[in-house]
Order: sequence, then structure tokens, then C-alpha cells
Amino acid sequence: MSTLDGLWRRGTDFLGSDYAIMGGAMSWVSERHLVAALSNAGAFGVIANGSMPPELLEQEIIETKALTDKAFGVNLIIMHPQLDALIEVCKRQNVSHVVLAGGIPSGNHIKAIKEYGGKVMGFAPSAIIGRKLVRLGADALVIEGMEAGGHIGPVTTSVLAQEVLPQIREVPVFIAGGIGRGEAMVSYLEMGASGVQLGTRFVCASECIAHAKFKELFIRSQARDAIPSVQLDPDFPVIPVRAIANQATDHFMRFQKEVIEQYRGGALDKKTAQLKIEHFWAGALRKAVIDGDVEHGSVMAGQSVGMVSKIQPVREIIEELVTQGEEYLSARRDRHLVLASERSEEFQPIA
Ligand SMILES: Cc1cc2nc3c(=O)[nH]c(=O)nc-3n(C[C@H](O)[C@H](O)[C@H](O)COP(=O)(O)O)c2cc1C
Repeated sequence: MSTLDGLWRRGTDFLGSDYAIMGGAMSWVSERHLVAALSNAGAFGVIANGSMPPELLEQEIIETKALTDKAFGVNLIIMHPQLDALIEVCKRQNVSHVVLAGGIPSGNHIKAIKEYGGKVMGFAPSAIIGRKLVRLGADALVIEGMEAGGHIGPVTTSVLAQEVLPQIREVPVFIAGGIGRGEAMVSYLEMGASGVQLGTRFVCASECIAHAKFKELFIRSQARDAIPSVQLDPDFPVIPVRAIANQATDHFMRFQKEVIEQYRGGALDKKTAQLKIEHFWAGALRKAVIDGDVEHGSVMAGQSVGMVSKIQPVREIIEELVTQGEEYLSARRDRHLVLASERSEEFQPIA
């Protein structure tokens, strides 16, 4: 029994977990071991499908089920060329929660998941899109601010929370981006969120398969080291990705400059130049997470990386977050009690 039970009941009921803490799907990182460890610890793990083909996703779900009998979800990127087949896999495996990431999903994809009894979660980068997702049938929303690791939007978590939470009450809303401690978690719950989603804090879990060098860099890094990728030219869009600065982030700047110069000099057409820039990061996350090449790969990390200080079991990280949240609430209750007793002394009637 936790003092947070009442605060996040809507989230725990929705997820079917003890704590309304989702382990945000992280490509190459959120596989069976981390996902099962999160769900076994009372939180909610989510498999990151990333670019996996349907056969590998099915295998991953089966292997995750072998490690936990608790609920877990699957995150699918909507641009995946085999999205229909991936949803079929989720149906066959009766995945209870499917998170559709990377844009606004089609009504048909949402319907296909709901028809087999799955719950659909979507990402809302604004209240307008949040309302649209609810109209399309999403059962819950995640709002993720630009403090997060990985692909990010332009708005901070705190501003998105103020924009979305008062306006969208029909479905549970989970907050992601920059949450590293229990106090922040509680403050979003008190603003009306049903739960939270964290990614960066779980990378250094002992159960996480990320390469030791990837974890070491997380432990050494501060918030200011996790920076968004920079677009050099307004004609050549770059989707910002927050990652720890390394040789690859420097190289990306020089590379954009070279490619754009080639385009301006007539050596490349615009489409080829744009594709070259887009392909720069292909395979880079795997290179860092799996191969441990943290200088030439992409070390995606959120600003909360500064709060990652050691390798520890998932259960310990979850307990830390919950305890911090509970202590924050009880310290505030104590302060109110002291204030109330001081006030009642001030107003003692004169005998
Ligand atoms: C290494 C890494 C990989 C990620 N990959 C994905 C992904 O494949 N799909 C997705 O929806 N979000 C992805 N994310 C975002 C997380 O799911 C989560 O929302 C985010 O990490 C929360 O913010 P935080 O990093 O501040 O805790 C990734 C984040 C990281 C750090």
C-alpha cells in the first residue's frame, strides 16, 4: 500500500500495474529483459519494436511472456512499412497495450487494435492533437516534452502538461520527458496526470542489455551534455534527437555543411542531398547501444541523465522513485500540520 495509490489509481487501473510508471520504449534497449524486469517490479514495461520485422517482434513478445506474467506493452512506429503485419502480431499475441509512436496514427490502425481488445496509446505534442487522437479512438495519451531522450518536439514537458492536462480529461494522460525523481512524478500527478513515462532513468538498470560503455557514458554525463541535434539550413529539415554530445554530433554538423555545399554547387540535387542528411544517423543507435561505439554512434539520452549515477536493479530504481514521491507528500503534510498548529496558537481566545 502506497500513499501514491489514490493519486495514480486511474493510471494503474489502465495499465494493470501496481505503479503508474511506464518504462518508455527505447529502440535496442527495451527488449525482453528490461521490459520484464519493469513489469515484475510493479511498473509497466514496453517493448520497442523500432525497425524490427514482424517475426522478430513476435519472438520478442513470446520471450518476454516467458520472463513475466505481468502486463506489458508494445511500441510501434507508425512509419514502419509493415505496420499492418506488426499489429497482426500484437493481435495474435493478445498484447494488451499498443503505443503508436512517430506521428498521428490512422483511424484504421487504432480500430484494428481496439477490435481485438487491445488498448491504444498515442503521443500528443499539443492539446489539439491530443483531442484529435481521442476522437480517433485512442484510449490514453502520452505527452512527451523536449527534455526527453530520443526524437523530440519543440515544447518542454512543463508547458505541455499545463496545456494538455486541464483540457483533456476523457482519457488517462501520462507525462514523459525529464522526469528523474519521485517529487517531479508526484507534481505531475497532482496536476491531473494519471501516470508517468521514463526512459533515461532505466538505461543503467542492471537488467538492461545496453553495452557497458553506453551505461558508463550515462553515468559520467550531466544534463547539459544531452543536446538536441542541430539543423544547419532551413531548406534541409532535421528532426531533432536528444543525445549525448560526441564525435558523431560534431561530424553531423560538418556533414550537413558539406552536403549543402555540394547541393548549392550543383553536384547534388535537393532530394539526394536531403536523403544523405537523413541517412547520416542510420544504424547509429545500434552502434552505440549494442556495439558500445559511443563516439561514432548515437547515445540518445534525456536531460535527466544527470540524475543517473550508478548501475542498479530496476526494482531499486522504482522503489527510489516511489519513496521520493511518498516522502515529498508526507513532508508537505507535516509542514501543513505545523502551520495549522501555529495558526491555532495565534488565534487562542484571550481568557
Ligand atoms: C535511447 C532511447 C531510445 C528511445 N527510443 C524510442 C522509441 O523507439 N520509440 C519511442 O516512442 N520513444 C523512444 N524513446 C523515448 C522514450 O520512450 C521515453 O518517452 C523518453 O525517454 C522519456 O523521457 P526521459 O528520457 O527524459 O525519461 C527513446 C529514448 C531513449 C533515451
